[in-house]
Amino acid sequence: MVKKIAKELIVFLSSAFFLLLAAHFLYYYLLVDVFSFLPVFPFSAIVTFLVFSFIAIFIEKFLVKRFDNDYNRALYFIVAIWLGIAWQSCLIYLGLAIVRFLASFYWLMSPEIFAGIFFLLTALLSWRGFYNAFKIRFKNIALEIENLPDFWVGKKIVQLSDVHLGAIYRQKFLSKIVKMVGQTGAEAVLITGDLFDGTDGDFSEAGKQLLKMPASQGVFFVYGNHENRLGRLGMLSHLTGTGMELLDDRLVEIHGLQIIGISFPEEGTKNFNLAEAIKSLSGFDPQKPSILMFHEPIQFEEVSKIGIDVYLAGHTHYGQMFPFNYLSNLVYHGFSKGVAKFNQLTAIISTGVGTWGPPCRTMSYGEIIVITLLKK
Ligand SMILES: [Fe+2]
Repeated sequence: MVKKIAKELIVFLSSAFFLLLAAHFLYYYLLVDVFSFLPVFPFSAIVTFLVFSFIAIFIEKFLVKRFDNDYNRALYFIVAIWLGIAWQSCLIYLGLAIVRFLASFYWLMSPEIFAGIFFLLTALLSWRGFYNAFKIRFKNIALEIENLPDFWVGKKIVQLSDVHLGAIYRQKFLSKIVKMVGQTGAEAVLITGDLFDGTDGDFSEAGKQLLKMPASQGVFFVYGNHENRLGRLGMLSHLTGTGMELLDDRLVEIHGLQIIGISFPEEGTKNFNLAEAIKSLSGFDPQKPSILMFHEPIQFEEVSKIGIDVYLAGHTHYGQMFPFNYLSNLVYHGFSKGVAKFNQLTAIISTGVGTWGPPCRTMSYGEIIVITLLKK
């Protein structure tokens, strides 16, 4: 077993090493082209920068996981920002290179103009991405549920997903979220996984913020794939004393409304059947109104057939950066953000509050979903 894990780790590290190396070589040629307006190409400066970039990207994840301190978090943040800029710059370069080629039949774009547009657009697109990654907006949804108990009629619940607390999003970001949730007057807060990013560390300050989450009927939470990555036991230690209720494959009934939490399957789980997992929960009643919390937006049709009224999911981040929004839509059959109806079931797929990897969103923004419950 240990041998198998070691073998997999070596394969993973060597592929990451060579992929990263190849990406840096390609980026070198991109920079050669962009800087062609200079009389002398700044070879040493560029190569030094790329060598630092290669080493930093390769080691920062291990460093921040192993030693959670300000220096490693700062390195992690710088690398994440650089990855965001690098990705935007590649897209801009590709687009510009195509325009330059097509225009070359009529007009030759000078290297100065090419470089000028390249830097300007890269800066604008990266800025938009970083701004959206830290800007949180409300998304209001009015939701009709059959047989909704009188207690809940007109009341609000909040969905938070994919906060990704870790090396980048910390207590300040969480404090902003808690304040915003407070403005909604919600009765309950439902956190649909990936509250933690997966890098361990001291989350005691974040815990204090979670304790302040205002919701008279409770704050509920399910595991996402990143909590599995962090390790569920480690995760639980961060939640202790926060007043949050973990719904790890179980449900609670509050004033006649079932709130169901199904954990993201552990790695290696095959043929996961969400509807069966719900049906097997003790106390589940298909006749009573229900809200399901499951991290990933899957198997909507099947879930709609067992009497679930609302399915809250996240996970997709709507791809975060162009063109991954298309990929995310492809993987989730067009349901990677927003609201969708399946018979009586309403599925709500959050684009998340925080981000994974580079703190960069060019195709969406962080959202807090405020749902007003109404009777059908
Ligand atoms: Fe996530």
